[in-house]
Amino acid sequence: MVDALFQLPERTVTLDDPVAGLSGIIVLHSTALGPAAGGCRLWRYPSQQACVRDAMRLAEGMSYKNAMADLPLGGGKAVLRLPDQPFDRNALFEAFGRAVEKLEGTYVTAEDVGTSVSDMAAVSTLTRHVAGLDARPGRPGGDPSPWTARGVFRGMEVAVARRLGRTLDGVTVAVQGLGNVGFALCGLLHEAGARLVVADTRSDVVDRAVEMFDAKAVPVDEILFADVEVLAPCALGAVLTGASIARLRAKVVCGAANNQLAHAADGRCLADRNILYAPDYVVNAGGIINVSAEYLGWALEEVAPRVDAIGARLGSLFDSADTLGVAPHEAANLAAQAIVAARRAPDRAAA
Ligand code: NAI
Repeated sequence: MVDALFQLPERTVTLDDPVAGLSGIIVLHSTALGPAAGGCRLWRYPSQQACVRDAMRLAEGMSYKNAMADLPLGGGKAVLRLPDQPFDRNALFEAFGRAVEKLEGTYVTAEDVGTSVSDMAAVSTLTRHVAGLDARPGRPGGDPSPWTARGVFRGMEVAVARRLGRTLDGVTVAVQGLGNVGFALCGLLHEAGARLVVADTRSDVVDRAVEMFDAKAVPVDEILFADVEVLAPCALGAVLTGASIARLRAKVVCGAANNQLAHAADGRCLADRNILYAPDYVVNAGGIINVSAEYLGWALEEVAPRVDAIGARLGSLFDSADTLGVAPHEAANLAAQAIVAARRAPDRAAA
């Protein structure tokens, strides 16, 4: 969670094409490490100001996520305002594709909340600076969620070893949200011998998890406080608040959801309760690693080792948090800011 902007974006581009129904912003937070990469969100915002604020925060988060995933990419984000009136989706995304193309590869887009593979296919008719398209045989691409689940799983192995001195075999894990990532994570955990407690607002996926993984279902308002060793938030952001943290029974929090901490200070509350928090953007980077591999033309074989490296990276992060006497989310922010700044410093010196 990045509360206040540490660094203002390098560039912003206002999107305003009333004929196509396109309104929003592209934020290039940083291109220090490479093209600013981050998905395109289509969401309803009460004002342009709210849309801009969200885009700035998300773009900075992408700089940190990409830096910590060791990707040669900077951070950016596009946030489009969902039109109030019925609109031609294809025309909207083609107009967006034209805007992306004008940035000449300094911004790379992909899906995010509210956008899909078919939207990105429309974008790809106007620009090649787009990922998250259907995978070609033997190439990286397609649904990034299984890779996100795998990265979270690797992170959880390390966090559980550190906090509980155990493998995942026999450990109880509460998974909040059985969507694309949460369900895949349950599969990996079940295979590893973990015992699952699950909740989702959709009863069909809960029933499937109970049947396939012998999971115990609990109501959605109880999952955060289940009597388990590990909590994996895989649904919504901002689930970790002062009030919810006070009631957690888990010793480890490690999940896929973005921006799990409602405020950065909540990371400190977790540490004060001796709950080990695996910073979300460090462990949920598997998807962006797969998307990057697609865009950068890496071999399919490169994806798994890079996603698996999330475990060791998290271990180093816990070490530096201990050394510095800070909470893990603070150590993650410091490390990411240092990576981005290190690349910027010579640029500035040369200028
Ligand atoms: P999804 O939309 O497929 O799944 C979310 C699930 O959460 C749905 O099944 C929904 O019914 C459930 N849900 C919603 N409100 C709930 C509540 N109050 N209690 C319990 N369940 C609830 O999303 P996906 O792709 O699985 O992503 C999950 C989280 O991980 C999101 O926060 C997303 O931003 C984040 N993430 C996803 C990545 C990916 O590769 N898909 C990559 C990085 C982060």
